[in-house]
Amino acid sequence: MTQAPPSGTPAKDLYELGEIPPLGVVPKLMHAMPIRRERHGTPREAMQHEVVPVPDIGANEVLVYVMAAGVNYNGVWASLGQPLSPMDVHKQPYHIAGSDASGIVWKVGAGVKSVKVGDEVIVHCNVTCGECHNCNGGNPMLCRSQLIWGYETTDGSFAQFCRVQAQQILPKPKHLTWAEAGCYTLVHATAWRMLYGHEPHTLKPAMNVLVWGGSGGLGSMAIQICAAAGANAIAVVSSEEKGEYCMKLGAKAWLNRKDFDCWGRLPDTTDAEGYKAYLKKVQKFGKAIWAVTGGVDVDIVFEHPGEQTFPVSCYLVRRGGMVVFCAGTTGYHISFDARYVWMRQKRVQGSHFASKYEADQANHLVMDQKIHTALSRTFDFTEAAEPHELMYANRHPPGNMAIRVNATVDTCKNLEESRAAQG
Ligand SMILES: NC(=O)c1ccc[n+]([C@@H]2O[C@H](COP(=O)([O-])OP(=O)(O)OC[C@H]3O[C@@H](n4cnc5c(N)ncnc54)[C@H](OP(=O)(O)O)[C@@H]3O)[C@@H](O)[C@H]2O)c1
Repeated sequence: MTQAPPSGTPAKDLYELGEIPPLGVVPKLMHAMPIRRERHGTPREAMQHEVVPVPDIGANEVLVYVMAAGVNYNGVWASLGQPLSPMDVHKQPYHIAGSDASGIVWKVGAGVKSVKVGDEVIVHCNVTCGECHNCNGGNPMLCRSQLIWGYETTDGSFAQFCRVQAQQILPKPKHLTWAEAGCYTLVHATAWRMLYGHEPHTLKPAMNVLVWGGSGGLGSMAIQICAAAGANAIAVVSSEEKGEYCMKLGAKAWLNRKDFDCWGRLPDTTDAEGYKAYLKKVQKFGKAIWAVTGGVDVDIVFEHPGEQTFPVSCYLVRRGGMVVFCAGTTGYHISFDARYVWMRQKRVQGSHFASKYEADQANHLVMDQKIHTALSRTFDFTEAAEPHELMYANRHPPGNMAIRVNATVDTCKNLEESRAAQG
């Protein structure tokens, strides 16, 4: 089913990290950091170094030699096995997490025409059937077979090789190192769809956008997308250091959520006194936003913390505005005062990753160097659990983190440089 490797060199069974095989030569085994059901727990307990078989590919699939992988919350949820075990979704004995990658096309299936062995690429994480009406002219995120690669599939990027659908491939921005290129696509494309994917509530110049977790993975990209569009991002963070970081990314202002006390589920709306006191606290936060916007409500709230912030997001967004959310990191039991949403005709919109079209649009802003990857820290392959531990504890550095897989030298940007530097 697959094309023969271009080189006639016989493969070794296993190559060490950074020992780059001849182009197109595929070993039987690979180093990986799989999660197993019996290890579900903290990332350090769950993700452990093993040698496992290199995945086989089908006609429309591609095997990528992973140079670097990105760190995101999917690895935390997959380690914990919450809200569900990935093994319950894909039914495989182990789960290789990692939903972001940079690397080199190492083998292509017989039906693949869009890429060839040797192409330097990044990977987006949307897996679809490719055949239904939604995949062909509709909205691929509504495909009934849609899955997130490296979370709902077991062939993610925390391994020397990963298997992807050919349509998951995007060009690697040439100016980026492997780690920079591997760290941003999941959060960047998600933020892009949240801000541009839900007509008519799409980002426009001079709009005011409240960005929760402004220094986080999603937030750092959302702020830059707003700045590139001429919109005003108002970042919410939990420290001055993170606030300053958001300003460097192009935020108009930042607020420290620790200065306010209006978080958590909506209180009992029939308790008139209690509710009045609660609204006063929310309005204090609203006034801090008005001080930035000149007294107008925000057009869009960029939501993902969920339970702790959702009632406030829905109260503060302007009449006819949109609260768009892609997660409930602090809890799924979200609540809001329905009266303000229907009377003021607000939109509450769920959003999930992005189509290839959207991921490609978002990537062009990186290729054009209008948006930066926000890479803050890079880790060795065998310490892949560490950045996930930091993320789980909300102690990770601002921006995005990456893991060196086969690119063991940080400065390299392509295969030639890596071969020269790594020997
Ligand atoms: N559906 C999708 O397609 C999709 C895609 C990407 C990510 N996600 C999800 O989105 C969530 C965030 O991802 P991320 O990569 O941006 O994570 P991240 O880098 O950890 O950023 C999240 C930010 O949330 C803030 N936060 C933590 N606790 C909070 C609270 N109680 N109230 C308000 N803010 C709080 C933190 O900032 P401060 O402490 O500074 O406030 C943190 O920086 C995760 O659950 C992830 O799984 C979903």
